Amino acid sequence: MIVLGMESSCDETSAAVVRMEEGRREILSNIVASQIEIHRLYGGVVPEIASRAHIEAVSGITYRAIEEAGITLADVECVAVTSHPGLIGALLVGVNFAKSLAFSHGIPLVAVNHVKAHVAAAYLEAPALEPPFLALVVSGGHTSFYRVDSYTDFVEIGSTRDDAAGEAFDKIGRVIGMPYPGGAAMDKLAYEGNADAIKLPSPALAGDTLDFSFSGLKTAALNYINGQRQKGLEPSHEDITASYTKVIVDAVVKKTDAALKQTGAKTLVLAGGVAANSHIRRGLEALCGKRGVTFCKPSLTLCSDNAAMVAAAGYFEYLNGNFADTSLNASALD
Ligand code: KG4
Ligand code: ZN
Repeated sequence: MIVLGMESSCDETSAAVVRMEEGRREILSNIVASQIEIHRLYGGVVPEIASRAHIEAVSGITYRAIEEAGITLADVECVAVTSHPGLIGALLVGVNFAKSLAFSHGIPLVAVNHVKAHVAAAYLEAPALEPPFLALVVSGGHTSFYRVDSYTDFVEIGSTRDDAAGEAFDKIGRVIGMPYPGGAAMDKLAYEGNADAIKLPSPALAGDTLDFSFSGLKTAALNYINGQRQKGLEPSHEDITASYTKVIVDAVVKKTDAALKQTGAKTLVLAGGVAANSHIRRGLEALCGKRGVTFCKPSLTLCSDNAAMVAAAGYFEYLNGNFADTSLNASALD
C-alpha cells in the first residue's frame, strides 16, 4: 500500500511516500524542509513564524515527495497527517492541506498522533518488529515511556512532569553559546569534558515512579554557570556538557531498567529527536545487552521529525479502520 505522510507539528515541514506491506517497508521519498535557520535568530521556535513557513513550504514539499517517489497522486492509497500534539497553528497547515488533497482526489485520510509516529519510525527499518514492546520517546517536546500493546494502542506508563529532555539540552546549550537547537552539538562536546567535574541533581524522580523532572537539573546547571560567571570565571563548557549529559543518561538508563522490569518487555524501541544522542544510545544498548532485551533504534534521519514515520503510523491506523473525514481538526494536546 502506498501511503503519503505529512508532518508539520513543529518546525519541520515534511512529506514522504512510503510503501507499507506485511513484512516489507520501503521509503520511496522523505522530504524534510527544516525551519531551524529561521528560528535560530530567536533562540527557539516562534509559533507564528513556524505556521507561515509551513504554509509557504507545504505544497512544494508534497509534490516533490510524490515526484521523487516516481509515482502520481493516483497511486496514493492513503494520506496520513499529523493532527496532534504540537503547535496548533503549525498543525493546522498540514491538516488542512492533507484534507483538501485527500478529499479532492478521493483518497482515504487518517489522522496520526505525532508521538506514535516517532515510535512507528522503528517499523520502517525493522519489518519484523511487532508489538507488544516498551517505547521510550525522547524529543524536544516529550520524554515518556509507553507500553505499546498493539500498533495503535499505547499506554503511557511514565513521563516528564515538566520539561522534555530535548528542551533541557537546548536550554543549557543556549546558555553556553550554542546555536539553537544545541542538542546535537552538546552530544559531541560531551566527549571532551570530565563527566564527574560538576555535581548535578538527577532528573530521575525518586521511588517506584517512571517519571522524570528536568527543571531542577536545568536550574542547578544554570545556577552553577551563573555563579561562576559572577566570580568573573567562564566555566568549562566541556565539563558542564559532559556532567549534564551523564546525569541525563544515567537517569534514562535507570528508569528504562525499571520500566523493562515493570512491563516484562523483551523489546525496547527508542524514538524521538533526542534518540539521536550517542551517549543515550550507548547507555541503553548496554542495558539491553545486560538484560537480554532487543534494542531497536531508528537511524538518525528517522529520529527527528519526518513524514515517513507519519506514513508508517498512518498505515496501521488505516488497517484499523480509523479514518478521518472533513471534520478532522488539529489539537495542540495529546
Ligand atoms: O523529535 P524532534 O525532531 O522534535 C520534537 O518533536 O520535539 O526533537 C528535536 C530535539 C531538539 O531538542 C534537539 O536538540 C534534540 O532533539 N536533539 C538531540 C540530538 N539531536 C537532536 N539531543 C541530544 N543529542 C542529540 N544528538
Ligand atoms: Zn517530534
